[in-house]
Amino acid sequence: MPKRGALPLGTLLVLLLLAFVPFPLSGCLLDPCLEITPNTTFRCTGLNISGVPDGVPNTTLNLDLSFSNLKSLGSNYFTSVPELQFLDLSRCHIHTIEDNSFMDLPSLSTLVLTANSLQQLGKAAFNGLTSLKKLVLVETNRTSLSELPIGHLHTLQELNLGHNSITSLKLPKYFTNMTSLRHLSFFSNRITSISRGDLDALREGSRLNLTLVLSLNNIKSIEPGAFAGIRLAELALRSAFESSMMQTALQGLAGLQVSRLTVGVFSDHDREQDFERGLLDGLCQVQMEEFVLICLGDFEDDTDTLFDCVGNVSSIRLVDLGLEQISQVPVGSKVKQLECKKCGFDDVPAMKLSLFKELRVLRITKNRSLKTFDQKFEGLSNLEVIDLSENRLTFSRCCSPQFRNCSNLKHLNLSFNSYIRLTGDFINVENLLYLDFQHTTLFGPGSYPVFLSLQRLIYLDISHTKTEVKSQCTFCGLNSLQVLKMAGNSFADNKLANNFKNLSHLHTLDISSCKLEHVDQSTFDALPELKELNISNNKLLTFDPGVYQPLQALRVLDFSRNQLTVLLDSAREILPDSLLLLDISQNLFDCSCVYLDFLMWIKENQELLQNEELMLCHTPSYVANVSLPSFDLSSCHVDAGKVASSVVVLLCVMVIFLLVYRYYFQLYYSVVLLSGCKHYAERGDTYDAFVIHSSKDQEWVTKELVEPLEGGRPPFHLCLYYRDFLPGVPIVTNIIQEGFLSSRNVIAVISAEFLESKWCSFEFDIAQSWQLVEGKAGIIMIVLEHVNKDLLRQRLGLSRYLRRNTYLEWKDNEISKHIFWRQLTGVLMEGKNWNHEEAKLM
Ligand SMILES: *[C@@H]1O[C@H](CO)[C@@H](O)[C@H](O)[C@H]1NC(C)=O
Ligand SMILES: *[C@@H]1O[C@H](CO)[C@@H](O)[C@H](O)[C@H]1NC(C)=O
Ligand SMILES: *[C@@H]1O[C@H](CO)[C@@H](O)[C@H](O)[C@H]1NC(C)=O
Ligand SMILES: *[C@@H]1O[C@H](CO)[C@@H](O)[C@H](O)[C@H]1NC(C)=O
Ligand SMILES: *[C@@H]1O[C@H](CO)[C@@H](O)[C@H](O)[C@H]1NC(C)=O
Ligand SMILES: *[C@@H]1O[C@H](CO)[C@@H](O)[C@H](O)[C@H]1NC(C)=O
Ligand SMILES: *[C@@H]1O[C@H](CO)[C@@H](O)[C@H](O)[C@H]1NC(C)=O
Ligand SMILES: *[C@@H]1O[C@H](CO)[C@@H](O)[C@H](O)[C@H]1NC(C)=O
Ligand SMILES: *[C@@H]1O[C@H](CO)[C@@H](O)[C@H](O)[C@H]1NC(C)=O
Ligand SMILES: *[C@@H]1O[C@H](CO)[C@@H](O)[C@H](O)[C@H]1NC(C)=O
Ligand SMILES: *[C@@H]1O[C@H](CO)[C@@H](O)[C@H](O)[C@H]1NC(C)=O
Ligand SMILES: *[C@@H]1O[C@H](CO)[C@@H](O)[C@H](O)[C@H]1NC(C)=O
Repeated sequence: MPKRGALPLGTLLVLLLLAFVPFPLSGCLLDPCLEITPNTTFRCTGLNISGVPDGVPNTTLNLDLSFSNLKSLGSNYFTSVPELQFLDLSRCHIHTIEDNSFMDLPSLSTLVLTANSLQQLGKAAFNGLTSLKKLVLVETNRTSLSELPIGHLHTLQELNLGHNSITSLKLPKYFTNMTSLRHLSFFSNRITSISRGDLDALREGSRLNLTLVLSLNNIKSIEPGAFAGIRLAELALRSAFESSMMQTALQGLAGLQVSRLTVGVFSDHDREQDFERGLLDGLCQVQMEEFVLICLGDFEDDTDTLFDCVGNVSSIRLVDLGLEQISQVPVGSKVKQLECKKCGFDDVPAMKLSLFKELRVLRITKNRSLKTFDQKFEGLSNLEVIDLSENRLTFSRCCSPQFRNCSNLKHLNLSFNSYIRLTGDFINVENLLYLDFQHTTLFGPGSYPVFLSLQRLIYLDISHTKTEVKSQCTFCGLNSLQVLKMAGNSFADNKLANNFKNLSHLHTLDISSCKLEHVDQSTFDALPELKELNISNNKLLTFDPGVYQPLQALRVLDFSRNQLTVLLDSAREILPDSLLLLDISQNLFDCSCVYLDFLMWIKENQELLQNEELMLCHTPSYVANVSLPSFDLSSCHVDAGKVASSVVVLLCVMVIFLLVYRYYFQLYYSVVLLSGCKHYAERGDTYDAFVIHSSKDQEWVTKELVEPLEGGRPPFHLCLYYRDFLPGVPIVTNIIQEGFLSSRNVIAVISAEFLESKWCSFEFDIAQSWQLVEGKAGIIMIVLEHVNKDLLRQRLGLSRYLRRNTYLEWKDNEISKHIFWRQLTGVLMEGKNWNHEEAKLM
């Protein structure tokens, strides 16, 4: 059993942790609602609640309670959130909405009740919603409009009744009062017929801008006159009719005025609808501005009636039709815009389309079966825009012969096609302003100056056209050009030379992904107005200030994905003040501390720099993939410290090394000395004196010192290095062990050579220190003739005056020699141990 008061360690830790958990977090754990934006937007989905959750404050504007289990709403249900503007109650299992449930929501503008099978809806269920603009009753098990208690919602703009079981379009009277209604959707209901009078409520209010969606119903008939006098913004009739009833039903639209009429099916819908002769005949009685025909299957040979009744519509969109040709165009057609998207042409039907004399915009796009352009557009003097993009066109002699007397053509889009050969003939389309060839293989540009006659062109896109710019005059003639896009092409020798010389109005140039390795000095000289340059994804190693200096109007420069290592000071200086965006991400940055100023500049200019997260160090390897903006500059300072300390350490090592080198012998001596001390006592004095001398004086030593001393009476025993040192033992060991340790005295033969020899100096030094340490008998200094007295004084210093030392001068005359010998033998005699033989000889 634990002792009283001894909390287990784990419990203590948990308690401590709890004490430090921030309060709001623990609040969150209890609160099932997610605060999307503080105080105003809350999401409390999937709850089993009755009432607004406590965590939702009265400041809430947007509340999402979807997928909760609410079951029924009672009166004043939302009292706690009086400022609510948006309320989502999708899939809340609501079956009952009692009277005055939303009474406290005068500001609510959107109420979503999607997917609740409402069975009981009080007459005053929506009372109080005085600002409601959008009511979504999708999938709420409605069968008719009449029992919907919404008549008082005068502010309603959008009412969505999609996916219900409404069978009749009879609009109750109260719709006359909904003057703000803009969108009324009966998408996917069960309307089978529309009768006269059903839409009377729309007729009475002067409603000019209502979109009525009747798509996905099962309409068998529309009584003629049902739409007479009705004005709508849009009427959507996709998959609205029972198969084969479309043609007759459309007759019932007579008298309708509509801005946009959409007829057709949904492509994923199982109801197929083919185009039959006279299918659209009913539309002759409909006034419309735009007609959209969408997703009809087979046309067979019935296309000649297609435009019969829509020939005066100003805009026609034909989408996803199996239309393979255009056979008949009504005379005097007033169609201004015609679009055929995903139609089934295999040749551009230029001849027939030229009959639309009023045509201003023509788009034939997105069909991979459209391959040839053999026919010619003729006399479309109003035509301004022609878009033939995203087909599979292949043709040559672009682009004059295809457009006879189309002198107003300003936009020509031939992008995303297969293969087009340009000849340079643009005579018929000289007024072109926009020309787009991107992602179409081109032949011509790059080799010849094909654009010479396009003096007015302001926009040219030849990106990804497999163009190789070889000619310096590739862009000659484009004197008005403002935008040139040519990403994904190449330049001769992967080099930008003087390619842009006459493009003085250019403000956007995209030469990204062009395999560029080099940019010549004067390349951008003629581009003083350039505002945007994209030179990313090339192989450029440098940003040469001289090259980019002329671009003083630049605002956007994309130099990303090149092989730049650094932006040097000189390069940064020429960046114009106008620059707003600079992208140098994904280059091979060198983050060495040598470029500390660059790294600092990066930190200071984060507003200018784009894609900062992609600016990574490449070298040196120990910082590879470190983000440049978050690069730790202080590591550079630490490095400097490291360098300094390394230098200091290195210096110390060098000094120590030099000292060791210089005093090697002394050190060695010290070592031997220390070890020698032990042996000293055991060792007898083998020699009377150890002679240190210069090898140059060996002759003198042998003749004047060794012979007289060793052969004299008493005989003295001298230690001579050339004779007595043990072979195979280091010389220093010999000096110390054989010389000093085994001798009573040291004789130093001092000559000019001795003073010059380092070796002799060393031995002399050892002798001196030996004398001091061991208290041994003195050093006998024999100074030979011709020795420089100054040097001698300096070298021997005080030692010659020390009491125990003997200072002898050698002179080569008999008297001096006699005195010398008496003094020398006298010194050597001191403390000599006589052995028997020697004593006898004495
Ligand atoms: C949210 O409401 C609280 C209390 O009413 C208030 O202190 C806080 O400033 C509000 N926050 C914001 C972002 O309005
Ligand atoms: C929801 O709560 C009620 C009681 O408030 C309970 O009877 C019911 O089982 C709960 N449903 C779920 C799915 O938890
Ligand atoms: C919201 O609640 C606070 C107290 O939590 C209260 O002081 C304030 O008056 C309430 N605001 C409204 C509009 O009810
Ligand atoms: C739709 O409402 C009817 C009564 O009006 C009811 O019988 C039927 O079950 C409801 N359907 C669903 C799916 O709740
Ligand atoms: C339309 O609104 C007016 C005034 O609000 C009202 O008198 C009239 O009864 C309403 N009409 C219908 C059909 O609800
Ligand atoms: C009609 O309504 C649409 C949105 O439904 C809106 O974009 C358009 O501007 C409106 N037109 C007029 C004339 O009010
Ligand atoms: C088109 O308008 C012209 C004259 O404005 C008229 O003669 C012709 O019948 C109209 N065509 C259709 C289909 O309405
Ligand atoms: C182009 O037209 C053909 C023939 O109608 C059709 O089969 C094909 O799906 C269309 N292609 C596209 C991409 O729409
Ligand atoms: C083209 O226009 C010129 C003059 O505007 C005219 O003489 C010529 O006949 C026209 N050609 C065609 C094919 O329409
Ligand atoms: C040309 O068409 C392509 C593909 O539809 C489109 O992306 C491009 O913007 C168009 N070009 C111009 C200049 O409108
Ligand atoms: C270059 O431009 C000038 C004026 O903008 C023009 O006079 C000259 O002919 C052009 N040169 C070429 C080769 O297009
Ligand atoms: C530059 O071109 C590349 C593609 O080549 C593109 O991803 C990038 O967004 C362009 N840069 C700018 C600033 O538009």
